[in-house]
Amino acid sequence: MSVHRPDIKKITTHQLQEMKNRGEKISMLTAYDYSMARLLDAAGIDVLLVGDSASNVMAGNETTLPITLDHMIYHATSVVKAVDRALVIVDIPFGSYQGNSSEALRSAIRIMKESGAHGVKMEGGSEIKESITRILSAGVPVMGHLGLTPQSIYKFGTYTVRAREEEEAAKLIHDAKLLEECGCFGLVLEKIPSGLAKRVASEVNIPVIGIGAGPHVDGQVLVVHDMLGITQEFKPRFLRRYADLHKTITEAVSHYIEDVKSHDFPKDTESYK
Ligand code: KIV
Repeated sequence: MSVHRPDIKKITTHQLQEMKNRGEKISMLTAYDYSMARLLDAAGIDVLLVGDSASNVMAGNETTLPITLDHMIYHATSVVKAVDRALVIVDIPFGSYQGNSSEALRSAIRIMKESGAHGVKMEGGSEIKESITRILSAGVPVMGHLGLTPQSIYKFGTYTVRAREEEEAAKLIHDAKLLEECGCFGLVLEKIPSGLAKRVASEVNIPVIGIGAGPHVDGQVLVVHDMLGITQEFKPRFLRRYADLHKTITEAVSHYIEDVKSHDFPKDTESYK
C-alpha cells in the first residue's frame, strides 16, 4: 500500500459525486502495473481501473474470461503501491461472483484486503443485485458496468454497440436505476448509443463514466494501452489515440539493436574502469 502523503488530497467516491454535482468531468484510465500507474497518477488522473482487460492487454488472451482473482489481486497490489492521489477500482473477474452472493463477497473482500484497493467493479444489473447488495453492506464501494459487458461476450457473440433496440435500452435504464438504489457509487456504460447514455446520466444521480458512450456522461474511461497507441489492431470509433508509443518503442528498440550489433553500445563512457 502507498505511503500516506498528507500533502496530497486523495480522490474518494464522495469527491466523484461532488464532481458530477458541479459538472466537472471525471477522468479514468486502466492501469495494471506499478510503473504505468505511477505515471498516470502523477499526471493527475482521477480514477485508475485495474480492469479485467488485463487479460487481453497484459496476458494476451482473446477475452477477459480467463483472468483469475489471484491475477487481478497481483495487478491491483502493484497499482495501489504506485498511487498517491487516484481512486483505485478493481474488476471482480469472471467466475468470481456469478455463482452466489457469498462467493461474490469473498472475492470482493480478498481484493480489498490483499491489494489495498478502494472499491470493486462488477458487470451486470438485476441478475447480480443480491451480490452487489451484500458487498455494499460489508462496506465495500461498488461500481456497476452496463451496456457491452465483455465477460458476457459469448452470450452477445459480438463486440458491437449494445442497447440499440428499445427492449435492451429499457432494461439498461432499469438496471442503472437499480444499481443506484442498491448504493453503487458510480456506473460504467460501455459502447451504447450516446442518446441513451445521456438519458441514463441525467436520470441517475451517481457518476456515469462512459467508454464508447458519447460525451453526455459524467466522465470517460479508456484502456491506457489503446489511448497511448501501444496496441495497434484495436481501432473502434470511440478510441482517440493520444500518442503512438508503438512507433516510439519500435524505433527505440531497433536503434538499440543496431547499436549493440555494430559495437557502438556501450562506449567507454558507459563502462566502468
Ligand atoms: O476492463 C476494463 O478495461 C473495463 C473498461 C473497458 C471499462 O472494464
